Amino acid sequence: MKRHRTAHRIAHLIAPSIAHSIVLAAGLSIVSSARAVDEAGARALMKQHGCDSCHEVDKKLIGPAFRDVAVTYRADKNASVKLQNKVKKGGAHTWGDIAMPPNILASDADIKTLVDWILSLPK
Ligand code: HEC
Repeated sequence: MKRHRTAHRIAHLIAPSIAHSIVLAAGLSIVSSARAVDEAGARALMKQHGCDSCHEVDKKLIGPAFRDVAVTYRADKNASVKLQNKVKKGGAHTWGDIAMPPNILASDADIKTLVDWILSLPK
C-alpha cells in the first residue's frame, strides 16, 4: 500500500514535466515545419546523394552555385517541379554545355527536399 502511494506521488511529480515536454516538442515541430527546409538536413542529403561533388551553395563548381539557382528561379512558380524533374533526369544547356547526369539513386522525396531548400536560399 505504501509503495503504491509513493509511486502515485512520483507519477504526480513526473506527469507535469512530461506534459511540459510534449507541449515544448509540439511547439518546436510547429516552428521547424514553418521554416521551408531544415538547413542541416538538406546539407546532409546533398552529401549523401553526391550533389556536393558538383555543387556548392556559394561557388560554381561543375554545376551552378545553388544560391545562383535560387536567384534565377525566384519569380518562377513552377520552378520546384521543373527542377525536381531536371535533377532526377539530368540535362544540360541552362547553365552551360556540361550536363548534370541523372540522379537515379535519390528518392523523389529527397530530391523535393533538396530543390525546395535550394530555392529557399536567400540572396
Ligand atoms: C556530376 C555533376 C553533378 C551532380 C552529381 C549533380 N549536379 Fe546538379 N548540375 C550539374 C550541372 C553541370 C548543372 C548545369 C546543367 C545545365 O546547364 O542545364 C546542374 C544543374 C543543377 C540545377 C539547376 C538546373 C536548371 O535547369 O537550372 C539544380 C537545381 C541542381 N543541379 C541540383 C542538383 C542536386 C540536388 C543534385 C544531387 C541530387 C545534383 N544537382 C547533382 C552537375 C551535377
